[in-house]
Amino acid sequence: MLDFAIRVAQDAGRLLRDRVGTTIDIGHKGAIDIVTDVDLASEQLIRDHIATHYPRHEVLAEEGGLAENSSEYRWIVDPLDGTTNFAHGYPVFCVSIALEWKGEIILGVVYNPMRDELFAAERGGGAALNQRPIRVSKTSDLTQSLLSTGFPYDVKTSKWTNLNHWTNFTMNAQALRRDGAAAIDLCYVACGRFDGFWELGLNPWDTAAGAIIVEEAGGRVTDFSGNAFSNYKPQILASNGFIHDRMIEVLALPEAGNEKD
Ligand code: IPD
Ligand code: CA
Ligand code: CA
Repeated sequence: MLDFAIRVAQDAGRLLRDRVGTTIDIGHKGAIDIVTDVDLASEQLIRDHIATHYPRHEVLAEEGGLAENSSEYRWIVDPLDGTTNFAHGYPVFCVSIALEWKGEIILGVVYNPMRDELFAAERGGGAALNQRPIRVSKTSDLTQSLLSTGFPYDVKTSKWTNLNHWTNFTMNAQALRRDGAAAIDLCYVACGRFDGFWELGLNPWDTAAGAIIVEEAGGRVTDFSGNAFSNYKPQILASNGFIHDRMIEVLALPEAGNEKD
């Protein structure tokens, strides 16, 4: 099933890449939350593959929601993670596919077609980038860490903006990035390009594949307090493990004030 997931992610990724530079139809799910015809086409392609090979399996995908079935298997799919990037021609986006069995994620695949990078992991089998094993970074000092995060689409109306954490990590890490595709952020923790990642308000399709890839690369994934992570809960903190406890401390800080005028 890992081979199947890889083939499907690459197939959908090619579809995304082929649409770069073409006319895109853009609709709005919210003020800044968009969906394009490419999200929908990619999801249809993936659903068709699953229906052909595993017709009894459930599918939970971002645009069409949950197709229930009586199976113990559930595919969790983001057909285009990084839609805002895609719509602007910013080349950071991917396809994310994970498989849950009896409530546990057993494999995950993330494919970035612009870099031709295929991240994959199977529970207990390690993680790989283009078939080569990957490990998280060894950075143990938060002040030397490159971290990544993202902001929820309701950032302008919710009290949970993540801006407090952004401020506090800016003051405590080497540098922060906001690259706009959570599944890629997680894979970059897995292969050591980022030392840590946190975000709130994500959905199962954003995190399901990336989280197992981080864990299988030797990293740690929890909520903001260090409790077990669940794809169905809003907080994710993923790191190389070494800086994890320091990141939990920073996430618990009150917002750094602008004391100086
Ligand atoms: C979004 C991206 C982004 C994150 C958002 C997600 P989408 O997914 O992963 O990095 O900050 O919260 O919703 O909408 O591009 O699939
Ligand atoms: Ca997403
Ligand atoms: Ca998406």
